[in-house]
Amino acid sequence: MTIQWFPGHMAKARRQVTEKLKLVDVIFELVDARLPLSSANPMLAEIIHQKKRVIILNKADLADEVRTAEWIDYFAEQGLLAVAVDAQAGKGMHKISRAAELLMKEKFDNWKTKGMKPRAIRAMILGIPNVGKSTLINRLAKKNIARTGNKPGVTKAQQWIKVEKSLELLDTPGILWPKFEDQSVGFKLALTGAIKDDLLQMEDIASFAAEFFRKNYPERLLHYLENDTIPETSLEFLGMIAEKKRLFDRYQDPDYDRAAETFIRDIRTQKLGRITLDDPHESNDGEEQ
Ligand code: G4P
Repeated sequence: MTIQWFPGHMAKARRQVTEKLKLVDVIFELVDARLPLSSANPMLAEIIHQKKRVIILNKADLADEVRTAEWIDYFAEQGLLAVAVDAQAGKGMHKISRAAELLMKEKFDNWKTKGMKPRAIRAMILGIPNVGKSTLINRLAKKNIARTGNKPGVTKAQQWIKVEKSLELLDTPGILWPKFEDQSVGFKLALTGAIKDDLLQMEDIASFAAEFFRKNYPERLLHYLENDTIPETSLEFLGMIAEKKRLFDRYQDPDYDRAAETFIRDIRTQKLGRITLDDPHESNDGEEQ
């Protein structure tokens, strides 16, 4: 799903999330492990106020494992609990409820000392489109959706999914918008397929990607190009891919468009390996996410 976000959509999304917030103890903020900052919503901290949150780095199967560990440490330094999962394969699911329990422990212990009976933790998933919210909900739901008040003519009540004895999850996620102001964020989101391809020029995305690989994973790029040097300019770079993949136009000139598309597709299908596009060492500490 790809939505063009306008101020009206953002205000509506924010209202809907604010409504649901009242129902839960904990927020599961879902981000793409390849883009822990670029796939985060810029207003999230402000929207959820003091509500506790677990940052879930989803699609960890696609991300650079070393970087994922660095990101978890980075968030820990900010006092935030982050866990890495692969919702598609169902890996790491147990970490989610453990994290929620950890965040709620103090409150629940408090209740116990006051003689109150602890109840299940209530949580909701929040994130921008395409980070895997539905996949994660389906994964956690198994067959445990508690159907309540879903009768014709009756407003559909919020449904809760019993994940474990100690955790209940709202069955619909909160959807927020990505942050577009920064051009490199747009390129990163496009490269991972989080936003529509036609919002940006494929050749621009490809040159951004080439630069990224040149800087971060040069050996992979050399292997991909089957060459011992990386061309300097992006035109030469795409020309080399066109040459390798036999992509020519009708005048037998290199087809740069198709070369760019091929390169991007090969990155998305992990032909150049698992990558993390956001670097925790380059993140802007003072910036409100
Ligand atoms: P959303 O609700 O947040 O919008 O995201 P959704 O669950 O629809 O997931 C978006 C895409 O990401 C889906 O692929 C989904 O299969 C994929 N995905 C979700 N979680 C993971 C994960 O942990 N690892 C990997 N590798 N992929 C994940 P799609 O392109 O829409 O469909 P398809 O390519 O699976 O057919």
